[in-house]
Amino acid sequence: MSSKEFTWNRKHLIGLRELSREEIEYIFDTAQGFEQMSTRSVKKAPTLRGKVVVNLFFEDSTRTRNSFTLAANRLSADVIEFTQKSSSVNKGETLLDTAKNLEAMGIDIVVIRHSAGGAPKFLSRNINACVVNAGDGFCEHPTQGLLDTFTIRKIKGSLEGLKIAIVGDIAHSRVARSDIYAMTKLGAEVILVGPPTLMPAKINQLPVQVSYSLDSVIGQVDVINMLRIQFERMGANPFPSIKEYSHYFGLTVERMKKAKKDILVMHPGPINRGVEIESEVADGANSVILQQVTNGLAVRMAVLFLVNQAAMTKET
Ligand code: CP
Repeated sequence: MSSKEFTWNRKHLIGLRELSREEIEYIFDTAQGFEQMSTRSVKKAPTLRGKVVVNLFFEDSTRTRNSFTLAANRLSADVIEFTQKSSSVNKGETLLDTAKNLEAMGIDIVVIRHSAGGAPKFLSRNINACVVNAGDGFCEHPTQGLLDTFTIRKIKGSLEGLKIAIVGDIAHSRVARSDIYAMTKLGAEVILVGPPTLMPAKINQLPVQVSYSLDSVIGQVDVINMLRIQFERMGANPFPSIKEYSHYFGLTVERMKKAKKDILVMHPGPINRGVEIESEVADGANSVILQQVTNGLAVRMAVLFLVNQAAMTKET
C-alpha cells in the first residue's frame, strides 16, 4: 500500500511498537512537507491555530521539549510549559489531577515526559486530549525513534538491508527500544552492542542480534548509534570504571579507522564527551548528530499535526 493512500487515525502517539510500517512512512511523508515549509521565509502554518499544546515534562530535557515547543509554535498553537520543579506536584498533586486541571483550561494536546513507564498510556485512557509520549521510563521515546529513522532514510535513501549498531546502555534506554521498532519495521538489521550488564532482560523478545564486542561489529555496519550511560536510572555501577567502559565500548578516532568510510555516526543526546564518544568523532565528518536535532522539528510538527487531525476526525 502506498503511504499516499493511507489514512492516519491515531489521536495518541504512545510508542512505535504498535505502529505499522505504513504509519511510520506516513509520518515521514508528512514531515517532509513540513521540512519544505521550514525553508520558506514565512515558516509558520495556521494548522493548529486556536489549539493549545501543553509540554508536561516531569524529567529534564533540552532537545525534546524545545523541539516540541518550536514545532507547536510553527503550527500556530498556543503552548503551555509545565515543569514539575515549579508545580503543585511538589505539594502532592497526582499526575491525573495535574492533567485534568490543565484540561479544564482547554488543552488539546499533551506532550508528556515521565520517569514512570506507562504514564502516557495511562493519561491517554483518562483524559480527552491527544497524548504524545516524549519519553516514559525505560519504555519508549517514539519521536526520537522517528527522527533517528527519518535521518537515516533521508541520507541513505532507504533502511532496507542496512546494518545498524546501537551501542551502550541498552537496558535503560527508551531510545533504543523505539529505534529498534522503527528501524526493523523499515527493513534494517539492528545489532545491539554493549556489556552484558547493560543489556535488557527478555532481549530475545526483540527483533535484534546482540554482540558484546564493538571491535567485531564496527566494520560491518552502515550506521552506529551511540547511547549515553544513564547513571541516573541505575542503583549500582554496571561496570568497574568509566575508563574501562570507554576502552571497550567508546567510539574513538582509533576505532573509527575500522568503520566503513560512509558510516553515519548518531547520538540522541545529551552526549557525555569522552565516555561513549570522543569529541573528534562526535564533531567529525561522519557525524549526523545535529542533523538528527534539525530533523526532529519536522517530525514533531508532523506528529502534532496528525494526532490533532485524528482527534478532529473522531469528533465529526
Ligand atoms: N534526545 C533527548 O531526548 O534529549 P533531551 O533529553 O534533551 O530531550
